[in-house]
Amino acid sequence: MKLRSTFWFGPADRDGFIHRSWMKNQGLPDHLFDGRPVIGICNTWSELTPCNAHFRSIAERVKRGVYEAGGFPLEFPVMSLGETLMRPTTMLFRNLVSMDVEESIRANPLDGVVLLAGCDKTTPALLMGAASCDLPAIMVSGGPMLSGKYRGEDIGSGTNVWKFSEDVRSGAMSMCDFMDAESCMSRSAGHCMTMGTASTMASVVEALGIGLPTNAAIPAVDSRRYVLAHMAGRRIVEMVREDLRMSSILTRAAFENAVRVVGAIGGSTNAVVHLLALAGRIGVDLTLDDWNELGIGVPCLVNLMPSGKYLMEDFYYAGGLPALIREMGDLIHRDAPTVNGKTMGENTADAPCYNRDVIRPFDEPLVRDGGIAVLRGNLCPDGAIIKPSAATPGLMKHRGPAVVFENIEDLHARIDDPELEIDETCVMVLKNCGPRGYPGMPEVGNMPLPPKILKRGITDMVRISDARMSGTAYGTVVLHVAPESAAGGLLALVRNGDPIELDVPARRLNLDVPESEIARRRANWQPPSPASDRGYSKLYYDHVMQADRGADLDFLVGKSGADVPRESH
Ligand code: FES
Repeated sequence: MKLRSTFWFGPADRDGFIHRSWMKNQGLPDHLFDGRPVIGICNTWSELTPCNAHFRSIAERVKRGVYEAGGFPLEFPVMSLGETLMRPTTMLFRNLVSMDVEESIRANPLDGVVLLAGCDKTTPALLMGAASCDLPAIMVSGGPMLSGKYRGEDIGSGTNVWKFSEDVRSGAMSMCDFMDAESCMSRSAGHCMTMGTASTMASVVEALGIGLPTNAAIPAVDSRRYVLAHMAGRRIVEMVREDLRMSSILTRAAFENAVRVVGAIGGSTNAVVHLLALAGRIGVDLTLDDWNELGIGVPCLVNLMPSGKYLMEDFYYAGGLPALIREMGDLIHRDAPTVNGKTMGENTADAPCYNRDVIRPFDEPLVRDGGIAVLRGNLCPDGAIIKPSAATPGLMKHRGPAVVFENIEDLHARIDDPELEIDETCVMVLKNCGPRGYPGMPEVGNMPLPPKILKRGITDMVRISDARMSGTAYGTVVLHVAPESAAGGLLALVRNGDPIELDVPARRLNLDVPESEIARRRANWQPPSPASDRGYSKLYYDHVMQADRGADLDFLVGKSGADVPRESH
């Protein structure tokens, strides 16, 4: 088989000279250009992305494996997305990074790629971009941090930030103790070690079969993470020789496995938009409603924060994702192919479980219904979601008056006001935080509760928005309302005091206001102006689809393969 890279490095002519000669300035010997598989290592390393700051050493291990198997590794950078620093939200840039990845792969002499991702959006961005080229690919996740340790207790990334900050606001924790917890939480390389979005997406990678077994949970600093990277380097060379492309792995069965695994791990709601967008790229018909249907009967078996009490390190020592998938029985398509050449069933048939409190037996789940619930109703005709395993059971059926915040600034300005008219029966509503409205659909849906409510020991209320929420967060939080308010969804017309009815068992969310009044309000409604009239933000605003379509850009749906017939000189 003539490899793609030989069209660059093979010819004995002027162009071949140019392609080889400049590469040789890096000290690369002749024999590397002899037609062997050229493997790109797509790296999201950045010191601005602390979760991915150790990736240069992971890339070195991938290179070892590639060389060992007779390949030629070439590491290249793409834009990195650090969840903790970037404004207004990394989600605004997920699609931009996917374009960077897609074009970098297609434009260069690569036969296969190893994708290095960790912090939340880096995983879907790399998978989406690579899927649109459809070369052989393996993802290696960077691994979670070691468990946080604070005064004898395990504390989890994100989850304990939300808890501690509410404790400070209610007066239960001093600011001095709060500051002290900072360095106790993040004490090693790696991404968030709760079952937040990064760990969820690393689990999705393994469940899709696009990462090697055990990819999800090995801590970033555990030597076995380096072994995994080394073995991925070896395996990608074989995959190129077998012409095993992403589209052969990312089938409908693989997506069904991933959706169910998200339920069984109590995974992040963010997996919904990312998997919908990825399916759109690779050409698999996955819809928001599939989340309801596939989630039925999936119990949450993994006892990790934010739904439970342990952390990713514990999950790995308990057997990790292979043990969980084995426990899931017939809920998993066992014949789904994976990147190591074996089926999901073969990879997990004998996977041992070493701790039954961390990975629960199927009939003793942490939560009986672990899936993500998709709601419909006049407030969300195109859907909204809620994670029942992180919500308060007593609020799953609730009717109450709306307390409306027009945008994030309005929320920040008024939430701590003692005069705010609100009690625990109210439904908090936040507008203009969707894909177009913010822009970028940030993780602000888990609005903080007013201090006067927290001080009474109440820790949860129904909250509704067109935003997302951090995968490390919890509460009775309805997210991803579509259409969003900035696109003219009914959410835009909600006013203080309007009755809202949430019924999660019936999958319903309704605004109980007469049609005539809604029509009157709509006639007076003006869409907010876009945040920017130039650059990427403008492109995003003009083309982003709603949450029920994965918030991808409309012109990025699908794939174009990796062919580029024209030379550059
Ligand atoms: Fe990077 Fe949580 S902030 S994974």
